[in-house]
Amino acid sequence: MSAPRTTRCLHAHAFLLLLLQVLQLAIAQNERTTIDRLENVTHTVTRILDGYDIRLRPNFGGDPLYVGMDLTIASFDAISEVNMDYTITLYLNQYWKDERLAFGLPDEVLTLSGDFADKIWVPDTFFANDKNSFLHDVTERNKLVRLGGDGSITYGMRFTATLACMMDLHYYPLDSQNCTVEIESYGYTVSDVVMYWKETPVRGVEDAELPQFTILGHETNDRKEKLATGVYQRLSLSFKLRRNIGYFVFQTYLPSILIVMLSWVSFWINHEATSARVALGITTVLTMTTISTGVRSSLPRISYVKAIDIYLVMCFVFVFAALLEYAAVNYTYWGARARKRAKLKNRDQLSTSASVEKELKCSGPRSPEEIIALRECATSTGRVSPLLGLRSKPLPAATGAPPSLRLQRDHTTLRYRTRPHSRNSRNGSTGKPKVMHALRRGATVIKASMPKIRDVNVIDTYSRVIFPVCFLLFNAVYWFQCRI
Ligand SMILES: *[C@@H]1O[C@H](CO)[C@@H](O)[C@H](O)[C@H]1NC(C)=O
Ligand SMILES: *[C@@H]1O[C@H](CO)[C@@H](O)[C@H](O)[C@H]1NC(C)=O
Repeated sequence: MSAPRTTRCLHAHAFLLLLLQVLQLAIAQNERTTIDRLENVTHTVTRILDGYDIRLRPNFGGDPLYVGMDLTIASFDAISEVNMDYTITLYLNQYWKDERLAFGLPDEVLTLSGDFADKIWVPDTFFANDKNSFLHDVTERNKLVRLGGDGSITYGMRFTATLACMMDLHYYPLDSQNCTVEIESYGYTVSDVVMYWKETPVRGVEDAELPQFTILGHETNDRKEKLATGVYQRLSLSFKLRRNIGYFVFQTYLPSILIVMLSWVSFWINHEATSARVALGITTVLTMTTISTGVRSSLPRISYVKAIDIYLVMCFVFVFAALLEYAAVNYTYWGARARKRAKLKNRDQLSTSASVEKELKCSGPRSPEEIIALRECATSTGRVSPLLGLRSKPLPAATGAPPSLRLQRDHTTLRYRTRPHSRNSRNGSTGKPKVMHALRRGATVIKASMPKIRDVNVIDTYSRVIFPVCFLLFNAVYWFQCRI
C-alpha cells in the first residue's frame, strides 16, 4: 500500500527537478544571446569603421549627396536693433545616407553617442548669416547620431546662434521685420552636396514666444548661391515678425501726447500771468527733448528718418509753437499799448511838462528810488510789461534821447520821404543800404498785410481750437500712414 505511494512521490520530485533544470538552461541561453548581441553590435560598429575614410564624402566621385534638413525652434531669445541681429536656440537635424556604414536591415537603428560623429564623415554645414554661436554642452555635448541598418544617418544637435538680420527701421516702431536663417555647405558645391528641406522643415514656430514681436509667419526657400569658389545650395528659413506697439505706446506716444496737451493749458491762462505761461512752455519743450533722447538711446545711429522721429519732432513743434504763441500774444499786447500811448503822447506832446518828467522817470536808468517811482508811473499809465524790451517806450524826442539817436531817426524819416532821389544817389555806393532798405520795406508790407488784432485774447481763443484740431489731424494722418 505504501510502496506505490513512495514511487509516485519520487516521480513528482524528479519531474520538478527536470523543470528547474530546463528553466535554468533557458535563462542561461537568454543571457548568452544578450551577450552575443552586444558583442555583435560592438563588432558591427568596429567592423563598419574598419577601413572607413572619414575624409571622403559618401558616394565620392559619383552623384551628389543629398542632405536633408529640418529644424525645431527651441526659443527666440533676443532681437537687437542696435546690433542688427537676433539670437535663437535651435535643434538642427541633418539626414543623409552613407552606404559604407550599412550593417543590416533598414529598420534596425542604432542610437550612438555624439562622439561617433567625430569618426564618420559629416556635412560641413554652416550658417551664412551667423555672427556667433555655440553648441550647448550641459551635461554632455548636445549631439545625437542615429545609424540605420542601410547606412542612413540622422545627425542632430542643439545650439544657440546669433544671426545677422538687417532691419529696415523706416517705420520703427510700427514696423515688421523679415529675419532669416541661412544654411549652406561651406566647401561642397552643388556637384558634391545638395541640401534640401524635409517634408516638415520647421517645427516649434507656433510655440515660440517673443516679448517684443509677434511671429506672423515663416517660410522656407532654397536657391543656388554663386560665390567665388563655386555654386552652393543655400536653404533659407525666414520669419515675418511684427513689432508689438504696446511698449512704445506707454513709453513714448502717450507721454508725448500728454505733454503736447499740457502745453495747450497755457491758452487758458491769463496772458498777463507771464511767469506761469513761460514756465509751462519751457517745461513742456524740455520734457519733449528728454523723451526723444530716451528713444534714441535704444536705436542704432542710422541716418534716415524713422516713424518715431517724425512723431517726436512734430510733438516738439507743437509744444514749441505753443510757446511762440505766447510770445506773439505778449508782443501784440504790449506792442499795441506802447504804440497807442506813443500816439497819445505825440498828440499832446507839449501839454504838461509834468507828464514828460514822469515818462522820463519810467524809461531812464533806475536807482532804487526810481524803481519806487516806476511803480507809481505803472499805476498811472497802466501795467508794465515784465519783458524789458516790451516796456512802453516814449518817443525819443519827448524823452530827451541822445542827440545822435534823434538825428538818425530824423535821417531815416527823411530818406523815406525822398525815396526816388536817394535811390539815385546811392546807386554808386555799396549795395548794403539798398538791401536794408528793401528788407525794411518788406517788413512794412508784411506788417500792413497782417490783420490788425484789436484784442489779444483773440489769439488765445483761436489757438484753443486750432492747436487741438491740427494735432488731431496730424495724428490721424500719422496712424493711418503707418499702419498700412
Ligand atoms: C551577428 O552579426 C551577424 C552579421 O555580422 C549576423 O548574421 C548575426 O545574426 C548576428 N547575431 C545576432 C545574435 O544578432
Ligand atoms: C523675406 O525676404 C526674402 C527675401 O527678401 C523673401 O524671399 C521672403 O519671402 C521674405 N519672407 C517673408 C516671411 O516674407
